[in-house]
Amino acid sequence: MTERTFSIIKPDATKRNLTGKINAVIEDAGLRIVAQKRIRMSDAQAKKFYEVHSERPFYGELVEFMTSGPVVVQVLEGDNAVARYREVMGATNPEQAAPGTIRKLYANNVGENSVHGSDSLDNAKLEIAQFFTDAEIVG
Ligand code: CMP
Repeated sequence: MTERTFSIIKPDATKRNLTGKINAVIEDAGLRIVAQKRIRMSDAQAKKFYEVHSERPFYGELVEFMTSGPVVVQVLEGDNAVARYREVMGATNPEQAAPGTIRKLYANNVGENSVHGSDSLDNAKLEIAQFFTDAEIVG
């Protein structure tokens, strides 16, 4: 089934000029980038986006990191896009990520792990709506 998922290329990756290389992995995996913009996340945006992790010990560090530099927010479209992108990203911790995945190729560590992808179709819809209007998504 054709789905849309939400992706973020994180500050560790934009700082190292990896946006194009990450987009190549995404496109080579058969996912289409149907919306994309480079932004600096505000503190409020990052806190809201990661609200589900607000009780975790790394929440403050995570918000600080996500606001430390530019990010590229994206909408990806394709067959089973949510699960497909999670495969393409690899495990959260790059030490456990499979060869060829974005995190194995590029992530620094579990915090600075280069990309985010939605974990369910319901969350994808909520996350996309936080950063894009319908008119900005061109399928
Ligand atoms: P992400 O998919 O963006 O969703 C939550 C993020 O929390 C996750 O990727 C990691 O970057 C981050 N995270 C998870 N576990 C840890 C940890 N132990 N220390 C720091 N950050 C973490």
